[in-house]
Amino acid sequence: MIVAVRCCSRNGNTRRVAEVIASTLNTEALSTEHPILQPTDLLFLGSGVYAGDIDKRMKQFIRMLDPAMVNKAVCFSTSAVTNSAYRRMADLLADVGIRLLPQEFHCAGSFGILQKGHPDRKDLDAAKDFAKKISRL
Ligand SMILES: Cc1cc2nc3c(=O)[nH]c(=O)nc-3n(C[C@H](O)[C@H](O)[C@H](O)COP(=O)(O)O)c2cc1C
Repeated sequence: MIVAVRCCSRNGNTRRVAEVIASTLNTEALSTEHPILQPTDLLFLGSGVYAGDIDKRMKQFIRMLDPAMVNKAVCFSTSAVTNSAYRRMADLLADVGIRLLPQEFHCAGSFGILQKGHPDRKDLDAAKDFAKKISRL
């Protein structure tokens, strides 16, 4: 199974999650500057949540995806207080005709005095378990 991981992370929180998911599945966590160039079974897409939305580079990346190259996508995200990136990603992926799995990974991400230390060890272990579980589906 070909797995790819792409993420947008302004302050490193989502990147830490991306790296755990990628290393669990023996692939690399890359930024959205790296297009999907080979047929991919499972594409993990991650972003922090900024003003209730995902990073604009991730939006652009999703809009450029070729549904013939991506079988299905999985969302992961970090945020300080509000909801995950799932709904936003689901809408964008639906527009390009790529199926998003209902399962997602979301954890707290530090922001100023909020959520200090997150993602922490427990969050990263949960990300690892999530990656394993999804890869067995
Ligand atoms: C400009 C900006 C806007 C943010 N807006 C929100 C928000 O609307 N809701 C929220 O829960 N967290 C918000 N946060 C906190 C981030 O979602 C949180 O720190 C997340 O872990 C950032 O991921 P990153 O380190 O990968 O960039 C915001 C952070 C920044 C820098």
